[in-house]
Amino acid sequence: MTGAVAEGKKFEFTTQSGTDTIDVGRKLAAVLQPPQLLVLRGDLGTGKTTLVKGIAQALDAADADEVTSPTFTLIHEYEGVREGRPVKLYHLDVYRLEGERQLESLGIEDLLTDDAIVLVEWGEKFKSIRKRATGEISIAATGGDGRTITVMLKD
Ligand SMILES: Nc1ncnc2c1ncn2[C@@H]1O[C@H](COP(=O)(O)OP(=O)(O)O)[C@@H](O)[C@H]1O
Ligand SMILES: [Mg+2]
Repeated sequence: MTGAVAEGKKFEFTTQSGTDTIDVGRKLAAVLQPPQLLVLRGDLGTGKTTLVKGIAQALDAADADEVTSPTFTLIHEYEGVREGRPVKLYHLDVYRLEGERQLESLGIEDLLTDDAIVLVEWGEKFKSIRKRATGEISIAATGGDGRTITVMLKD
């Protein structure tokens, strides 16, 4: 793994394994000051769910192996701690949702409370999510198990 979390809006990491990407997630938890609504972009199997494992672990919200893909359940909710304060971690996968109306039934806007970090796989599909997003994490495969992870946070 290369790359470090620095001050600023854009961070880039390269990883060579799922474990590396979990480590990146652990580092990221430190800069994800709630409230955050982040779109997780990247092709199927690039490691979006894997990254969430690291974030959940660092927040003491769940062990890595307890974090699974919310493909069918659409949303997983965890409770953790960040800088001594309770934090709610929501992990969504909206790949299967079609149209804003189906999305509305999830009530994403109600999840984004002051203590919340909301991570939405495939969130870029929906304008209403893009509009509300406080940032974006994209993962691109670079050959074999290599990945580039780019994190952009708005102010
Ligand atoms: N550098 C890497 N980063 C993340 N996952 C990787 C990497 N190399 C291999 N993998 C494997 O790729 C798979 C990614 O799956 P997953 O996180 O569910 O992807 P997504 O949620 O993007 O569909 C896992 O089996 C993981 O072990
Ligand atoms: Mg996934």
